[in-house]
Amino acid sequence: MGKVLVLYHSASGNTGKMAELVAAGASEIPGIEVRTREVDAATPEDVYWCDGLAVGSPTNMGILSWKMKRFWDEAMFHHWGKVDGKIACAFSSAGGWGGGAEMACQSLLTVLINFGFLVFGVTDYGGTITTAHYGAIAAREPRDAEIRNTCRLLGRRLAEWVAVVADGRKDQHPLAKPESRTLPG
Ligand SMILES: Cc1cc2nc3c(=O)[nH]c(=O)nc-3n(C[C@H](O)[C@H](O)[C@H](O)COP(=O)(O)O)c2cc1C
Repeated sequence: MGKVLVLYHSASGNTGKMAELVAAGASEIPGIEVRTREVDAATPEDVYWCDGLAVGSPTNMGILSWKMKRFWDEAMFHHWGKVDGKIACAFSSAGGWGGGAEMACQSLLTVLINFGFLVFGVTDYGGTITTAHYGAIAAREPRDAEIRNTCRLLGRRLAEWVAVVADGRKDQHPLAKPESRTLPG
């Protein structure tokens, strides 16, 4: 059974609310076990446990928060080279649109790539004007329906890739399920 970890840091709760939505989206794919961990409670064993992980951080100065960076710098440092090949994606809450949330996602993806993870973006839309090409983003709390859908979409796509790659379930490949796609236009 494929395993998904939603690992997040949230200083004031906004990224935490995104994490709940990402986890809910991952749970939509049957046969996938989903675990959510706040970064202070997370351990390297959580990373070893999963086949795929979604990592979320508040946007801080346009990049990931120091607490999330510290987890990878310190807790995970001695595990580098031992956790390659997991599927990974990113999400971030910023103070406002244009505040650097996508750059924060990119900085998370950079860390994940460094650890040998297989990172992805999403081509589908969570509504008419919102997608997660570089990860799911929100301005403050994810209130808007499109933003909430896009967080769920990211989690669902992660679970689909885990089902395909870790469990060999080719029927879960997004291209094999055109009825579940939400492409623009
Ligand atoms: C130290 C610090 C740096 C921040 N830097 C940015 C930033 O570069 N861009 C931005 O839009 N918001 C910035 N913010 C605002 C947070 O990203 C925003 O409030 C976010 O929703 C917090 O998420 P959280 O509730 O999960 O902690 C910053 C906040 C803090 C505390």
